[in-house]
Amino acid sequence: MSGARPRVVLTRKWPHRVETKLAEQFDVELNVDDHPFTFEELESALKTADAICPTVTDRLDERLFDGVDIKVKMLANFGAGTEHIDIEAARRNGITVTNTPGILTKATAEITIALMLMVARRASEGERWIRANKWDGWSPTQMLSTGITGKTLGLVGMGRIATRVAEIAGHGFNMTIQYFSRSEVPSEKLAGLTVSRVSLEQLLSTSDFVSIHCPAYDETRGLIDADALHLMSKNSFLINTARGSIVDEKALAYAVKNCSIAGAGLDVYEHEPRIHPDLLKSDRVVLLPHIGSGTLETREAMGYRVLQNLTAFFAGNSPLNLIHC
Ligand code: 8YV
Repeated sequence: MSGARPRVVLTRKWPHRVETKLAEQFDVELNVDDHPFTFEELESALKTADAICPTVTDRLDERLFDGVDIKVKMLANFGAGTEHIDIEAARRNGITVTNTPGILTKATAEITIALMLMVARRASEGERWIRANKWDGWSPTQMLSTGITGKTLGLVGMGRIATRVAEIAGHGFNMTIQYFSRSEVPSEKLAGLTVSRVSLEQLLSTSDFVSIHCPAYDETRGLIDADALHLMSKNSFLINTARGSIVDEKALAYAVKNCSIAGAGLDVYEHEPRIHPDLLKSDRVVLLPHIGSGTLETREAMGYRVLQNLTAFFAGNSPLNLIHC
């Protein structure tokens, strides 16, 4: 890097250690109070910065790029999913986009397993009960639940996170694992796992747990709709740690309310941070606030990966995690 240091805008507050590291190399503009950026703030950053580091809470769509005198050369996304960025519009404007895949695999897989356990074993419901002073002691038929050991897990998508979930669920809980993926997964990626590839219909109708792990594309929007939910058994649970847009939340709320499925464990929502009121009311739904990757070590690692991508790009090299259209 020569001359003036590139100006980099962080749209949200990051772990302190990473912000400090970033500031050693770049002229960094921090978001000290961590407010979500407005359209105008994103527009202004596009005009004045060399790079922006957005997150899932920023909408970088075509409307934003159009008619603006853009200075930014790079969008170094803090996160794996990039559906909030119009990659094609960015490319048309000569902007390079990167992300942070791989790093959040373990943390997100942990939250997936946690949600399966919490919803099937009624863990949050039990805790709420105690805190509401409703527990008056043990009884043999109290709060009976469902175990996960030995059950069938259906994974929608078979990328890194699903593979890690399959390892834990298969080896740790002796679950039978089946997955749906549009494309064939190379066998070396599934080494050591006993998994079978099935159609989405078969997966939905034969799994005790259906867990979503596909990216949020136009093609996966509403993939789990009323018809899909209808195929699930009334004893099965839906788990979503991927993206809210993949599930029709209204249809899910209806399915839970009418007991056509046993429950749901959710970390992501269609219109975050808003959640369908019927899901909020239901004891058969476990709700987490999009914390899949939320361990300090993971969020730091994500930040360091963004830093690596920025450093490579501004040194004239190819960043590790280039997003291609
Ligand atoms: C992140 C995620 O926290 O990286 C992703 O795709 O879903 C999350 O775990 C968030 O997206 C950061 O932008």
